Amino acid sequence: MPSSFRSPAEIAEGLEGIGYLADDALAMAVHLALGLDRPLLLEGANGVGKTEVASALAQLLGRDLVRLQCYEGLDATQALYDWHYARQLLDVRGGSSSSADVFTRDYLLPRPLLTALEAGDRAVLLIDEIDRADDEFEAFLLELLSDFAVTIPEIGRVAAPSPPLVVLTSNRTRDLHTALRRRCLYHWVAHPGAEREYRILRARAPHVAPELARQVADSVARIRAVVLGSPPGVGETIDWASALAMVGSATLSPQDAAATLSALIKDVDDQQRVAERMADLVPSAP
Ligand SMILES: Nc1ncnc2c1ncn2[C@@H]1O[C@H](COP(=O)(O)OP(=O)(O)OP(=O)(O)O)[C@@H](O)[C@H]1O
Ligand SMILES: [Mg+2]
Repeated sequence: MPSSFRSPAEIAEGLEGIGYLADDALAMAVHLALGLDRPLLLEGANGVGKTEVASALAQLLGRDLVRLQCYEGLDATQALYDWHYARQLLDVRGGSSSSADVFTRDYLLPRPLLTALEAGDRAVLLIDEIDRADDEFEAFLLELLSDFAVTIPEIGRVAAPSPPLVVLTSNRTRDLHTALRRRCLYHWVAHPGAEREYRILRARAPHVAPELARQVADSVARIRAVVLGSPPGVGETIDWASALAMVGSATLSPQDAAATLSALIKDVDDQQRVAERMADLVPSAP
């Protein structure tokens, strides 16, 4: 199923239609990943929309989202397949199969990677937070990322009938190997600027009045320019705007901002830093 989107602009427009506001560089990276059949590696801070873009793309392309959440200790069997032990046992005991016959595809329980490979271009495979997995797991992914195939010892090589769109994300908690990077297209997802974040707020929090949304987006841009341990992500901006709307702010005041800061800043030192500069970050209404 080749992508019916002929240009980055069409992709950006399609994503916007389902509430995801991509910048030009991200739309281009997606366009290239689809056209060149290459995995797309997205790195960026927390909450910049890395995970969400994969599900938005699945929706836009009309494909299934197959998600693999990575964590320390994740290994190939958990990610790829398992054997259907109960069925193997039953069939061997019942005499319908010999013990050699129960290591075939019929007895495999596909996990996300095998599910996505078998679905081919009917799937978007999200390998989320690859930096949380161990080195060995990264090495195991190399065959999949370059050939869209894996080797299962008892069965042999399983290749995708057509390449799935593969999106990998990383928060950069550790460096990924060059071998993995080289197999992917790379895009750094930055925090949105005030204008794009305003549009995100209009799409994702339509109950927040436009004027308040504008002031929230402007203030968040200023707050991100302060050196913080953990700058707020887009999800926090949406929460903050919703919190302000909930307490009845028609426009943003330093007082309401301070009262609702729990929705935006999730660290005590960062809250302190913002509170100290509140008058500059959230100007009082003229
Ligand atoms: N460009 C965007 N357009 C619309 N919504 C966005 C955009 N970017 C982020 N969001 C919203 O912000 C929230 C956080 O996004 P997401 O979970 O994808 O971030 P992330 O980069 O995966 O963060 P983490 O690294 O913490 O997993 C989601 O609710 C998402 O809908
Ligand atoms: Mg994420």
